Amino acid sequence: MSTSVLFDHYGEPGTLYVKDEPVPRPGSGEVVVRYRAIGINPIDWKILRGDLRARVPMNLPGACLGVEAAGVVVAVGPGVRRFTVGDPVIRHGRPGTFRTHEAVPAAQEADQLTPQPGRFSAEQAAVLPVAAGTAYSALRQVGLRAGERLLVHGASGGTGLATVQLALLMGASEVVGTGSARHHALLRGLGATPVEYGEGLRDRLDRLGPFHASVDCAGGQQPTDMAVHAVKDPARRVTIADRRAHERGVPHLDHVPLELASTLDLIGHSPFALPVAARFPLSQAAAALALGLEGGVGGKIVLLPGE
Ligand SMILES: NC(=O)c1ccc[n+]([C@@H]2O[C@H](COP(=O)([O-])OP(=O)(O)OC[C@H]3O[C@@H](n4cnc5c(N)ncnc54)[C@H](OP(=O)(O)O)[C@@H]3O)[C@@H](O)[C@H]2O)c1
Repeated sequence: MSTSVLFDHYGEPGTLYVKDEPVPRPGSGEVVVRYRAIGINPIDWKILRGDLRARVPMNLPGACLGVEAAGVVVAVGPGVRRFTVGDPVIRHGRPGTFRTHEAVPAAQEADQLTPQPGRFSAEQAAVLPVAAGTAYSALRQVGLRAGERLLVHGASGGTGLATVQLALLMGASEVVGTGSARHHALLRGLGATPVEYGEGLRDRLDRLGPFHASVDCAGGQQPTDMAVHAVKDPARRVTIADRRAHERGVPHLDHVPLELASTLDLIGHSPFALPVAARFPLSQAAAALALGLEGGVGGKIVLLPGE
């Protein structure tokens, strides 16, 4: 059997329910993947609440959340040559990973499956696509170069922690990251200079600057104000989290094509890991989303479908 976590109408995490179904069969050009770990992201609760219904329309009833996971190919449909049974893969892109098994288009152009490099555990592979992929696109958009100094807002969240690490891999001379004091040791451990957001941030950043570029992974008034204050060239600022900030000179992120593959190329065999702050069984997806909605967990939240 296959187990899915579904919802029939937009709402809060309590609206999710668990459903058992037969394991899907792969159609032409598809493989069936059995997931071993599933990443949770803010986009999941934004979709569930209906906040994104114009940009990410869901097929209700019986819709499934989840935009990233890692697992193993367990069946291959006609016409698929890219994968064989037993291959470890990373699933990314359109929603639908809150389940044990899924039939997924296999073609590279579909951009939903990427071979999982052996160096990553299933859990680490599952949380790479959104956080690390988005961080990669953001750093490319601001044109970060070796020897430059970067400011990251929301550095202690999933995407921020990936941005800090990728920026240092790209050769940034210093990464200053905003986050709550309880997450400063985590940021220091990754090589960033932590700074508390909130009152007095402008003075603290003036002491720590100047900055060549700024990536906002938090969104809102202060990160926008500080990006404009700290980095003079608008082309060297980006936000992943605030669609109105472009009116104030902070452009929104445009993802690069085949983002995950490029991100994995950049990481190669360098040290890179996203802290996992909490793990839940798949059947407790509602509790996992509720924790994410509370905020401030300081890392990724993962669903484990079990064996
Ligand atoms: N455009 C895209 O493709 C894309 C991709 C990924 C994410 N996003 C969006 O980006 C945002 C962050 O995602 P995430 O997965 O990194 O979320 P997350 O793991 O929940 O992290 C958010 C972080 O923001 C910090 N924060 C909250 N208020 C702040 C403020 N005023 N100044 C600075 N930092 C602040 C929090 O830090 P403390 O806990 O230390 O207080 C928290 O660690 C979400 O809105 C998400 O939807 C967009």
